[in-house]
Amino acid sequence: MTRRSPQITAMINAAIKCARGLQRDFGEVENLQVSKKGPANFVSAADIQAEKVLYAELSRARPDYGFLLEESGVIEGRDTKSRWIIDPLDGTTNFLHGIPHFAISIGLERAGRVVAGVIYDPLRNELFWAEDGIGAFLNDHRLRVSARDELGDAVVGTGMPFKGRETHPDYGDQLDRIMSQIAGIRRMGSAALDLAYVAAGRYDGFWEYSLSPWDIAAGMILVTEAGGLINEIGGGRDPLASGDVIATNGRLHEPISRLIENRGR
Ligand code: IPD
Ligand code: CA
Ligand code: CA
Repeated sequence: MTRRSPQITAMINAAIKCARGLQRDFGEVENLQVSKKGPANFVSAADIQAEKVLYAELSRARPDYGFLLEESGVIEGRDTKSRWIIDPLDGTTNFLHGIPHFAISIGLERAGRVVAGVIYDPLRNELFWAEDGIGAFLNDHRLRVSARDELGDAVVGTGMPFKGRETHPDYGDQLDRIMSQIAGIRRMGSAALDLAYVAAGRYDGFWEYSLSPWDIAAGMILVTEAGGLINEIGGGRDPLASGDVIATNGRLHEPISRLIENRGR
C-alpha cells in the first residue's frame, strides 16, 4: 500500500467525513423529487453544511492555512503561502436531480502551485488523490493516463454551456468539429470528476470554458501526476486563472486542441 503523507491523509479524512453528510442528504433529495417545492433549498443547505465540515476538519489539521471556498469565498490564513481550494459539492445539478454523479474536491495550493489534490466520489467510493512528485492514485492503485493515440478511439469529456454561464461563442462549432472525429463525447456534470477521469485513463481528454479554481485545482495535479497534460484552451499556462481548460493524456493534446481551436488538421 502506498504510504500517504500526513498532509494528504488530512485531506482524505476531511473528504470522507464530509461525504457521510452528502450521502445521507442525497438519499433525502431522491425523496424530495416528487414534492412540489422540489429539493433546491435543501440542496443548497447540504452544500453549505458540507463546506462547513471541510473547513472545520482542515482548519483543525492545519490551523495556519488559508482557504478559497466556493460558498464562503476567501479566508486568509497566517501562512499566506498555503491555502485549500475547495468545492464541497461538484455536480450540484446532478445532486439536485437525483443523478448519482458528484464529488468533493480539495486542492492544496502552495506559493501559487497546486501541490496536492483529493477528489472523492462517495457513491462509488472512488477516492482520487495526488501529490506533487509522488503520483496519482485511485484508492490504492497508481493512476496513469490512457495510452490512446488515435483520435478515432478517443472518448472526450466536456462541460456544455448552460443558463447563466458565459462561455465561448464558438462552442457549438467546436462540438460539431470534434464529435465527427472521435469515438464519443461525454457530459457527465462534474468537472472535478471529469479531470479525475482523464487521470484514470477513462477519458482521453476533457475541455470546458469558464470554470472556477475550485472546479479545477485538485484535478490539475491528478492529471499531471498521472502523466497527462493540462493547460488553457489556446495554449496559456494558467487554467486556474482563466478557467478555460483542456486536459488530455498528452498524446492527443495537439490533435484535440487543434479541433477545438479550429487550426485545421
Ligand atoms: C459545475 C460542474 C459542472 C460544470 C460547471 C461547474 P458545481 O460545478 O463542475 O460539470 O459544467 O461549469 O460549475 O456548480 O456543480 O459545483
Ligand atoms: Ca464546481
Ligand atoms: Ca459546487
